[in-house]
Amino acid sequence: MPSQDLSSFSRRSFSRSRQSFSRRSFLQLSAAAVACQMVTEPMLAAAARRPIPADGVMIDSNENPLGPCQSARDAISGIIPLGGRYLDNLTDDLIHTFAQLEGLKPEYVHVFPGSTPSLHFGVVAFTSPQKSYVTADPGYEAGMHAASAVEARVVKVPLTKAYAHDVRAMIAAAPDAGLFYICSPNNPTGTLTPHSDIEYLVEKKPKGSIVMVDEAYIHFCEAPSTLDLVKAGKDVIVLRTFSKTYGMAGLRCGFAVARPDLLEKVMDSAGWNFMPVTAVAAASASLKDSKLVPERRRINATVRQETFQWLDRNGYSYIPSESNCFLLDTKRPGKEVIDAMAEQKVFIGRIWPVMPTCVRITVGTHDEMAQFQAALQKVMRGSTAFSSRPEKPRNARRNSRLVS
Ligand SMILES: Cc1ncc(COP(=O)(O)O)c(C=O)c1O
Repeated sequence: MPSQDLSSFSRRSFSRSRQSFSRRSFLQLSAAAVACQMVTEPMLAAAARRPIPADGVMIDSNENPLGPCQSARDAISGIIPLGGRYLDNLTDDLIHTFAQLEGLKPEYVHVFPGSTPSLHFGVVAFTSPQKSYVTADPGYEAGMHAASAVEARVVKVPLTKAYAHDVRAMIAAAPDAGLFYICSPNNPTGTLTPHSDIEYLVEKKPKGSIVMVDEAYIHFCEAPSTLDLVKAGKDVIVLRTFSKTYGMAGLRCGFAVARPDLLEKVMDSAGWNFMPVTAVAAASASLKDSKLVPERRRINATVRQETFQWLDRNGYSYIPSESNCFLLDTKRPGKEVIDAMAEQKVFIGRIWPVMPTCVRITVGTHDEMAQFQAALQKVMRGSTAFSSRPEKPRNARRNSRLVS
């Protein structure tokens, strides 16, 4: 079952902006309204969020504080006067630019407003009461909600000791699989699953199933993409987004990349819609900026490394990450730390039930992480009272890479 109860979430209440979004309204709305609700990272973050002060530090949603690059901002300004037109040629241009950069055939690429719709409708297309959804635990939860909406069995398989997806256990756990969801780097751990393991899964998975590889965070690390498996005609759908490294979460643009017959099935569920011209113009400009990815990868790695060094010096435990988020083991019920940090105006990410003492931290700017450090010291060194005694993570022995 999904790790978080989103059954009463309504799109209307979410669009009231996250500042005004109230946990009470979240919990009170009817389940029927969300039978097939797409679940997104900001919804999952908002479920644990209270009103945010203007000077709050937001490191709870894996956003990129740098926002769009300069050429993307210029492209947005430039396209505004043409915002009264549908201009679908801009989407074609974006597809061709991406296809050329990655050596793909354009018909293997479809553009969506973010990667959420392709994740959601991909799961809806390939799972059912007879075809289960197989994912990692802890893993990104959105697909589980989509699978539950179509009454598919949700199979959660623990990560390996190295926090990779345990592909062999995933295959063994679900001979009836419709879709295997792999997120690498994984949300929330920021850890990688080796390409060779994904290849193994693709070769050994049950006939008729597909592998969805979510590469939302791939540009933060040097790991190889799995687009080569798509090019080789395998049963693989790769998801990409402009929300993370490209800093365009609020602009909404992403790709589903797969064989045309697989994309067609996703589109049968998703229907067709028009992309906002601002998002498409900004995405094209971002792809053409060859410095963007290496520069942002370096900035994120530098701040992440500084943060890890500070955590090491101060005796905290965390899982080393290759991404813009990591899990911090607070050795206490994580929810208490989240609440106490919010009192300090630092808004950190949620917990996953399988690791109840760990909280997800997004890597923000250098200054944001300095505020995070100050608040964490205050909270953990006792100036904020905790209601319960320190607790051991349930999987402490298994998690050999937890640094402490
Ligand atoms: C693993 C993963 N996939 C997909 C998404 C969806 O992002 P978006 O719809 O903004 O592209 C997120 C958002 O945080 C994510 O963490």
